[in-house]
Amino acid sequence: MKYSVHGSLITLADEFSAQDLFSLTSVHITDLPSDLVALQYENPDGYMPLREWLQSEWKHKEMEVDVNQILLTTGSEQGMDLLTRVCVESGDPVLVENPTSPGILQILRMRGASIIPIDGDEEGLLLHSLDKVLATTTPKFLFVAPNFTNPTGVLWSLERRAQVLDLCRRNRILIVEDDTYGDLHFGESNDPESFSIRYPSLFTLDGHGMGGQVLYMGSFNKTVAPELRTGWVVGNRKLIELMGAAKPIADFQLNILNQRMLYQLLVSTTFDWHEHILLLKREYRIRLKLMKELLKQPAWRGARYDLPSGGMFLWIQLPEGLRSEALLKCSIGKGVDFCPGVLCFANKREGRGNIRLNFTQPGRDKLIQGMRLISEAINEFTARG
Ligand SMILES: Cc1ncc(COP(=O)(O)O)c(C=O)c1O
Repeated sequence: MKYSVHGSLITLADEFSAQDLFSLTSVHITDLPSDLVALQYENPDGYMPLREWLQSEWKHKEMEVDVNQILLTTGSEQGMDLLTRVCVESGDPVLVENPTSPGILQILRMRGASIIPIDGDEEGLLLHSLDKVLATTTPKFLFVAPNFTNPTGVLWSLERRAQVLDLCRRNRILIVEDDTYGDLHFGESNDPESFSIRYPSLFTLDGHGMGGQVLYMGSFNKTVAPELRTGWVVGNRKLIELMGAAKPIADFQLNILNQRMLYQLLVSTTFDWHEHILLLKREYRIRLKLMKELLKQPAWRGARYDLPSGGMFLWIQLPEGLRSEALLKCSIGKGVDFCPGVLCFANKREGRGNIRLNFTQPGRDKLIQGMRLISEAINEFTARG
């Protein structure tokens, strides 16, 4: 599914950003750095100027960190991979938001973790469900994505953020906060500063400059270009050191050159990071609105969804009786795919009536075409029923 973007299939399945907007960044990063040191081994914790850039950028989000608490990775998924390498052994319990990102579930399964899903609602993780599990289990950590959870697009309320943090603190449970989609907010609190005041990260709420209960991870892969493969983890220095020691084993400093190119882009006088994000958000808002209009076609009657105010996905409960995997098979036959809900659940019996549609990667024409093909597939099932 991940690489279908290169074929003739229209894909609404992936976790990709808008390919047609990559040109906005690629023009600024065509040259290799002239400094030959760039071709030598670097500090495995990552390119220091880029870590300093992040440290300074996060001050807008009220996040005060020391550069030594920042480990650069190839993306959020590598952050998760490194964490599991250093602290999860086969059979160890790990809590995840339910549903959650298929990639994160895959990493946890490969480590043999015992994955315990915790349900949520439109405000975030359900406190009583978390409390009930913590009464009998001491997990290695809790994995959550409070800003536009993949796949549901839920944006946790401030109150729920504070409550979950408080409960985890009292039980001394590490929270892994994945903020992969946090910059892609296009609802009411559109400007970055008012957004982070209204929806502070759990890391900020925790208030430990040196990293207490929260490990914060994120990435440029959804905002600049996935193939630059650069993300970060920030947190408790001891844990970051452990993860840093696992990093060369995982990829032997594979992407320091990419980090330099990314830094070159971010400080380029012809590129404005905040303008770039605004432009992405403007386009993504339009694409989501377009998808919403297309969902008014008769084929989708009975489908249910909540419109997210950011992120990359629309999470849909299919009309009664329709199964996502059968619909996917039929849709692929017509030339379009999407993510079946079952991939987002730890328990594979869940999610059969759900699908996740990506509205960011396909351009507007492909989006219209793709949605028309899925509607056709739905109509075939309805006609049979
Ligand atoms: C919640 C979440 N975390 C991490 C990732 C992976 O991001 P990256 O490309 O930065 O590894 C994804 C999707 O690709 C995701 O949905």
